[in-house]
Amino acid sequence: MDFIENQKWRYATKKFDSSKRISSSNLEKIKESIQLAATSYGLQLFKALIIEDPETRKTLQSQSWGQSQITEASHLIVFCSYSIIKDEHIDSYIGLKAESMGVEDSSLKGYGDFIKSKIAEMSPEQQSNWNAKQTYIALGNAMALCAELKIDTSPLEGFSPEEYNSTLGLHEKGLEAAVVLAIGYRSDEDKSQKAIKIRKSIQELFEVI
Ligand SMILES: Cc1cc2nc3c(=O)[nH]c(=O)nc-3n(C[C@H](O)[C@H](O)[C@H](O)COP(=O)(O)O)c2cc1C
Repeated sequence: MDFIENQKWRYATKKFDSSKRISSSNLEKIKESIQLAATSYGLQLFKALIIEDPETRKTLQSQSWGQSQITEASHLIVFCSYSIIKDEHIDSYIGLKAESMGVEDSSLKGYGDFIKSKIAEMSPEQQSNWNAKQTYIALGNAMALCAELKIDTSPLEGFSPEEYNSTLGLHEKGLEAAVVLAIGYRSDEDKSQKAIKIRKSIQELFEVI
């Protein structure tokens, strides 16, 4: 039940207490929750950028509807996904899988070719969307863990991906900004913490067929 209680405790924090920092040991746990997130085929075709530089944070805030979480949160993670999937991404995953299993890469060639053939069926736009979707699972993992650690979070889609791509030099790395997570501790002044949780009823949300 703790999981449910923690989900009731959490809310999308609007105002962080900028004097409070999350500890490095908690940051390591949050990183692990992102590392361990499930992804399609296990490819993990994303990078999570931790933005520490205050000037960059200010620029990103101006590209995020001016939202204060961008500069006031203890930590800011920009989830970036690869826009195009290349054969080398699959080869690298197969290499890692083979190494982890202690087998030759060649023994997994058939599996690698299968993944490549499935990805070749997707248009570039579908590949970009598919990779971006994977980052939301990692985002959810990190948010759930933070709630368990009584750390506040604010997931953010209210930003200009194109401007982020340019500020962070993402296109040069084959990446694009997908979603943002601000992490830290709520300010006492944040009125949102007292807001009622608005959720559809279980009956409305579920259907048994
Ligand atoms: C992917 C995603 C993007 C969001 N983007 C923003 C945002 O840019 N700014 C904001 O204030 N809240 C944002 N939210 C927060 C939602 O509005 C919030 O989660 C929702 O209203 C439910 O409220 P609760 O999370 O406080 O329970 C986002 C939530 C998600 C999941």
